[in-house]
Amino acid sequence: MATIVGGVGSTHVPAIGKAIAEKKQNDPYWMPFFKGFDYVHYWLARTRPDVAVVFYNDHGLNFFLDKLPTFAVGAANEYRSEDEGWGIPVSRPIPGDAALSWHLINALVADEFDVTICQEMLIDHAVTIPMALMWPGPVWPIKIVPIEINTVQHPLPSLERCLKLGRSIGRALESYEQDLRVVVIGTGGLSHQLDGARAGFINKEFDLLCLDKIVAEPEALTRYSIHDWVKETGSQGVEFLNWMAMRGALTGRVSELNRNYHIPISNTAAATVVYENQTEVARKAA
Ligand code: DHB
Ligand code: FE
Repeated sequence: MATIVGGVGSTHVPAIGKAIAEKKQNDPYWMPFFKGFDYVHYWLARTRPDVAVVFYNDHGLNFFLDKLPTFAVGAANEYRSEDEGWGIPVSRPIPGDAALSWHLINALVADEFDVTICQEMLIDHAVTIPMALMWPGPVWPIKIVPIEINTVQHPLPSLERCLKLGRSIGRALESYEQDLRVVVIGTGGLSHQLDGARAGFINKEFDLLCLDKIVAEPEALTRYSIHDWVKETGSQGVEFLNWMAMRGALTGRVSELNRNYHIPISNTAAATVVYENQTEVARKAA
């Protein structure tokens, strides 16, 4: 049986790729952000996940406004990236676990999530940046299942729908016959707006409310409509949908092991969190 060891939330600001390439982790601007990953590295070394299910939003590399699925699941054994024009090095390919992808796709469709199935899918900075932050070494010690959520072309799925998507994934993981250890990742956010009259908008008070609520009562956040969310968090703050899906996939008793909140990284309020998922089996063994 697969075990969901926990969840990680991370921003995916492309400028982080440039900072890594230029080894700026200890520069005064970057240090408070990169320090937030010390605990993530410690926790990953302890929990040793085999697979990461990554909820993210594509920004126009694989999907564009002409064809944009609400939910898409990768079903490949390797995911490539390409130059998106941010001036950062193109990531090396990330290994996939197609067998697990198909198990999740079957479970999602049975649960009435009619996802787009992608046997080929380019992954953008919303996957590669968090991966590079979490596993900074020269090889990926992990396979991924990327799950894309539309946060770009309205209408977007609701916070509740994304929480339910995550729950469906959580149930499916727990019914997977292979003995895998799984970490679930939600990327993007928190508050930010990249263009328009409110470009540069950040809402610390609301971000901190979200970080408090998502742990023990994520349902409390589902009362916000997408329009409320844009008002509170900026037009790109809707990337929090990826975090809601990540939280939904944590099926056990969830606690926050670590949190780093730093303003700003580029235009974004950057949050890094680690959530433990204590399953019933683990609780009984403890
Ligand atoms: C930035 C943030 C994002 O989420 C993104 O996808 C691109 C850029 C930024 O703050 O620069
Ligand atoms: Fe983004």
